[in-house]
Amino acid sequence: MEPTHRPVISATGLFTPEESISNEELVASFNEFVRRHNAANAGAIAAGEVTALEPSSVEFIEKASGIKARHVMAKAPVLDPEIMAPRWPERSNEDLSLLAEIGVKAARQALERAGRDASDVDAVLCAASNMERPYPAMAIEIQQALGIEGFGFDMNVACSSATFGIQTAADYVRSGNARSVLVVSPEVTSGHLNWRDRDSHFIFGDVATAVLVEDAAMAPDGHWDILGTRLKTVFSNNIRNNFGFLNRAHPDSVGAADKLFVQEGRKVFKEVVPMVAQMILEEADRLAIDPATLRRMWLHQANAGMNRLIAHKVLGHEASDDESPTVLDTYGNTSSAGSIIAFHLNSDDLAAGDTGLICSFGAGYSAGTVFVRKAA
Ligand code: COA
Repeated sequence: MEPTHRPVISATGLFTPEESISNEELVASFNEFVRRHNAANAGAIAAGEVTALEPSSVEFIEKASGIKARHVMAKAPVLDPEIMAPRWPERSNEDLSLLAEIGVKAARQALERAGRDASDVDAVLCAASNMERPYPAMAIEIQQALGIEGFGFDMNVACSSATFGIQTAADYVRSGNARSVLVVSPEVTSGHLNWRDRDSHFIFGDVATAVLVEDAAMAPDGHWDILGTRLKTVFSNNIRNNFGFLNRAHPDSVGAADKLFVQEGRKVFKEVVPMVAQMILEEADRLAIDPATLRRMWLHQANAGMNRLIAHKVLGHEASDDESPTVLDTYGNTSSAGSIIAFHLNSDDLAAGDTGLICSFGAGYSAGTVFVRKAA
C-alpha cells in the first residue's frame, strides 16, 4: 500500500520593508496634491468644468479601516505630491527582480525557522496579487536564487493567493508529488495603488511572506497540522484592476486610473462579510470543529470592521485582540500576505493542541480557509 502523506505547515517567514508611512505623512502629502490640483484648476473649477478635489483625513482613515501606517519599498516618491507612486531604478536581467528579492528574504526566514536546507525543498509557488512580469515566472527566479531543484510557478488569486497556495501545496504533498513546498507571497502593493484616489489611497502596504508546507514525516517539532482547507470564488467587478499586456492595444487608455486597484468598498464590505462567515462555519462543521473553541483566527487584513463582524459571527461573541489579532495598524492591507503576517507574528504563544484558522478573502471574489492545530 502507498504510504500516506499528511501536509503540515512547518514554518513561516516575513520580510518587512524598513520604510513606513504614517497616516499623518500620507494625508499631508495627499492634501498638498489636492491643494496644488485645485489651485492649478481654479478657473475651470469656478466655471464648473472641473470638480474640485476633496482633502483626505487621518480620522476618517483610522475609523473606516483601522490602518495607522503602512510599510513601503519607496517612501519618498510615494509622498512627493508631484509623483505619488513608487519609483526605483530599472534592474537588468542579471539582477534579482524586486519581487524575487523580497520573496527570497521571507523564504529564507521560513527555511531557517524550520531548520530546512533549501536542497530539501521540491517546489516554489509564488502566490501574489501582482507579478512583476509575465515570464519567466517569479517562482522560478526565487527557486534559482534559493538553490532549489524541482519546479516553481506563479499563481494569482489576489488577496487570497496565499491560502490558495497553501491548499495547492498541501495537495501536492498529499498526492506524493512533492514533500516540501514553499509558498511565497511578495506583495509590492504600492505599485497597484492609486495614491491620488481619496477613497483608497490609505489602504495598502508592501511586505513579503513565506509558508513552508511539508509532509508531516519530515516536519520539525511544533509544526502546524493542517486540519482542512477550503477555497471559494464568486465573480465580482467590485474589486478590479484592468492592467494587463493587452492594454497596449488601446494606447490611449494605458495610464488610466482603472489600470490600478479600484473598488466599491461599501459593496465589498457588505457582500464579503456574510460570504466568508458562512464559509468558515460550513468548513468548521465539515471538520467537526466547534467554532467557539477556536483559539485564534488569523483573518485577512483589509479592514478592522470586516474582521470584527466575521469573527463575531464565527465565535458567537465580540473577539478580543488575542482571539483575532490585527496587523492593520502598522502594515495596512498587504493583500494575500495579511493573514500570514498575522499568523507569523501571533502564533508562537499557542500550545500543542490549540486550534486556529487562517482565512483570506478579496478580489475575485475569492476566499480561502486553512484550519490548523499546533502539534507537540
Ligand atoms: N478622507 C476623508 N473622508 C473620506 C475619505 C478620505 N480619505 N474617503 C472617503 N471619504 C468620505 C466619503 O466621501 C464619504 O463621505 P459622504 O458620507 O459625505 O458621502 C464618507 O467618507 C464615507 O465613504 P465610504 O467610501 O462609504 O467609506 P466606508 O466607511 O465604506 O470606508 C473603506 C471605505 C474602503 C475603508 C471600506 O468600505 C472598506 O474597507 N471596504 C472593504 C474593503 C476591502 O476589504 N477591500 C478589499 C481589498 S483587497
